Amino acid sequence: MSTILEMQDIVKSYYLDAEELVVLKDINLKIEEGEFVSILGPSGSGKSTLMNIIGCLDVPTQGKYVLADHDVKDLDEKELARIRNREIGFVFQSFQLLPRLNALENVELPMIYAGEPPQYRQKKAAELLERMGLGNKMRNYPNQLSGGQQQRVAIARSVVTEPTILLADEPTGSLDQKTGEQIMDLFEELNNDGRTIIMITHDPNIASHAKRIVHILDGHLSEGPVH
Ligand SMILES: Nc1ncnc2c1ncn2[C@@H]1O[C@H](COP(=O)(O)OP(=O)(O)OP(=O)(O)O)[C@@H](O)[C@H]1O
Ligand SMILES: [Mg+2]
Repeated sequence: MSTILEMQDIVKSYYLDAEELVVLKDINLKIEEGEFVSILGPSGSGKSTLMNIIGCLDVPTQGKYVLADHDVKDLDEKELARIRNREIGFVFQSFQLLPRLNALENVELPMIYAGEPPQYRQKKAAELLERMGLGNKMRNYPNQLSGGQQQRVAIARSVVTEPTILLADEPTGSLDQKTGEQIMDLFEELNNDGRTIIMITHDPNIASHAKRIVHILDGHLSEGPVH
């Protein structure tokens, strides 16, 4: 296995009215390719802040972050965007599908940005939706899909360009328990195919689907089972 990301002594502070709020405190974290890791912690513990740094949407205040052999501090905005597109597929609690595109077109979108030809895009998006049990919903718009179906479309969209890491922030947060479990089955399947998954959650039941659990509490990380 090779290391896909490594954080050393990461600190993240926010400044409001010249007052410093230290949200992440000396974070050390190493994740290997193919792992399924959940980051578990209560509201306000710093989960989304950590996710934004992992996903190169934000940069740390201090410390070293290496993603896919690149030290992010050496990268400019354009290079950060490039590494983000190549290495990371994002999934959010609120799905974030484009309302004016149907399921198939939503999944095609990242491949348009990647410059793939139309026929290839449609075939690949259709295959993936088929695999996710949405073969008969491809022409539906987001408001014509259930929450669980929308999340499956969002997951298809996030993995269609085959990023190294699937990075999910509360992916089951707006779903009922049964639908949440179905999404976890899908994550386990994607992980069995070799995809690295990093999933952020406040729910111990959801976290327990991962093979490794990292707890975050008040900006500090610790490893261990659900307790
Ligand atoms: N842009 C910002 N500016 C100032 N403070 C912020 C900013 N973003 C987050 N914070 C603060 O950082 C702390 C951690 O926020 P974060 O969003 O990472 O928590 P979280 O663990 O994701 O919580 P939740 O489970 O509610 O989503 C909170 O106290 C929050 O108020
Ligand atoms: Mg959050």
